[in-house]
Amino acid sequence: MKKEEKQKKQVLVVLGSPRKRGNSATLAERIARGAQTAGALVELVFLSDLSIAPCRSCYACQKKGAKGCAIQDDMQLLYPKLISAHAWVLASPVYWFNMSAQMKMFMDRLFAFPAYDKKAFTGKRIAIAMTYGDVDPFASGCVNALRCFQDAFSYTGSEIVGMIYGSALKAGDIEKNQDLLKEAEKLGRKLISK
Ligand SMILES: Cc1cc2nc3c(=O)[nH]c(=O)nc-3n(C[C@H](O)[C@H](O)[C@H](O)COP(=O)(O)O)c2cc1C
Repeated sequence: MKKEEKQKKQVLVVLGSPRKRGNSATLAERIARGAQTAGALVELVFLSDLSIAPCRSCYACQKKGAKGCAIQDDMQLLYPKLISAHAWVLASPVYWFNMSAQMKMFMDRLFAFPAYDKKAFTGKRIAIAMTYGDVDPFASGCVNALRCFQDAFSYTGSEIVGMIYGSALKAGDIEKNQDLLKEAEKLGRKLISK
């Protein structure tokens, strides 16, 4: 990384849909654009490109002196990126009234995160982006998923700076909601304002 890039705030965008040009990715990319125009350095990671196993509940990461997660897979590439990022953008479609399985596995594996750096969660600035097919955020299960993120990051002492969510079924449908996309860009700027 060049010196001037090192000085920029880093934003890690974690995408939880297998559709790379899908609605949740579009929303997240607009948050990223907002952060980038405000001076951040942005990196995008598609969870579907990575090999991430579910948590095995071995509790190795919770033992005294633990150095990290016992599972040696691509999550090991993400932990250092998550630590060095000033802020995260987590994006997921609603699948069966909750976040996608890819995103849930990522969340479960954050159980080991403090073993890498005790304070890594503290004050981490987080934006959430979600899309769903139903017209109603409650009936779709989106609110259910948002509540999961809220509870998890309240528990970890992180800060959810904003949540952007909207109805869109087919890939690209979210483009019809330009007001929401503008809100997403605004959230990106807010994400790195502190
Ligand atoms: C397996 C699967 C399950 C889904 N479950 C729901 C659901 O419970 N509620 C809902 O409103 N939409 C549901 N949808 C629709 C998606 O949430 C919607 O198309 C979303 O915009 C997809 O985001 P993406 O384009 O980023 O993949 C489901 C779609 C799939 C493929």
